[in-house]
Amino acid sequence: MSEPSISTGPASDTSSDAAALDGAGGAEPAVEAAPPAVATDHYSKSANAEVWWQAHFEQAAGQVIDFFAGDGISLEGKTVADIGCGDGIIDLGVALQAKPDRLVGFDILVHDIEELAERAATFAGIEKLPDNLYFCTSEPTRLPAEDDEFDYVISWSAFEHIADPVAILHEIRRVLRPHGVLFIQLWPFYHSAHGTHLVDWFPDGFAQFRHSQDAILRRIRSSGGDQALASDMIEAFLTLNQITADGLQDAMRQAGFRIVKVALSSEAVHIPPEAAHLPLSQVAISGIKLLAIADGQPTSEPSPRHQPETEQPGAEPSDDPGEPPAGQPRHAAPTAEPDDDEPEAGSPS
Ligand SMILES: C[S@@+](CC[C@H](N)C(=O)[O-])C[C@H]1O[C@@H](n2cnc3c(N)ncnc32)[C@H](O)[C@@H]1O
Repeated sequence: MSEPSISTGPASDTSSDAAALDGAGGAEPAVEAAPPAVATDHYSKSANAEVWWQAHFEQAAGQVIDFFAGDGISLEGKTVADIGCGDGIIDLGVALQAKPDRLVGFDILVHDIEELAERAATFAGIEKLPDNLYFCTSEPTRLPAEDDEFDYVISWSAFEHIADPVAILHEIRRVLRPHGVLFIQLWPFYHSAHGTHLVDWFPDGFAQFRHSQDAILRRIRSSGGDQALASDMIEAFLTLNQITADGLQDAMRQAGFRIVKVALSSEAVHIPPEAAHLPLSQVAISGIKLLAIADGQPTSEPSPRHQPETEQPGAEPSDDPGEPPAGQPRHAAPTAEPDDDEPEAGSPS
């Protein structure tokens, strides 16, 4: 069978096509401009309080629980930590829906439990926060928790804000029991369309490459509207750590984690000329959800990238990965080490 031929279309003035696709030159775009890339797990801070509540209490909490459940992992009766818990709405959703024995939300900012209780009453008719939910103020590179204290750790929309992700990952590794599982959701990656977190001011995206930092700040400050929100978002923009998907993987390896399940998010975007030099793996991957197992040795050395794969000594080639140990994602390497913990409830679906 011959290769299908790719039509190049009628001969055209390619320079004007390029200008139109770039949105330059004042011409109408030759193709309909892609809508601003807004992933389903992005919730603008400008959303009204009820939209924000639903997005976190139901949708985000549900996605965390489902991502674990997809690998047969139940958080019921377990100890769970959330790193970068913010207002704690997701934690409340997870505490109520998944019924962990204890869920502790950690954040470097002091948590406002009264505000959470008020919102819970207003938007969900919850009269009292559940007894399995706790909040704790942490330090930027230190979690006030015991070694091996948690069965599972979650983190939603926090890792791009953490100044020293490697240090906090080492801390997570310390407080997670051996072979415990870490869930991370990160959206949006800095180099992706809305990586600035400034979608409200730059709906077309890629402002970080199209405009100088000064021009970005000027536009936000002069745009009117909610000034408290504007200064929060400026602060968020200026403190983003600019981690990439590969950088996150490296940081996790360094801290002794092995990523075993990953879902990347990507939307159709127009890449402006100013970002054309960047790898697609940066500009076109807007977010990630992953599960990782704490089964490696933490190291202070950066992990080597792009090394040829070598076979694990003694690894038996097999088509059938078999069932993972209970409470661990599929494709987790079965461990030879005895597990001191009680057997986990719930088996892979
Ligand atoms: C965008 S908010 C996300 C909050 C919450 N997870 C949510 O989705 O609503 C990021 C949070 O990470 C917190 N954070 C930043 N660095 C941190 C660190 N080193 N340790 C713990 N939390 C941190 C910030 O204070 C902020 O509350």
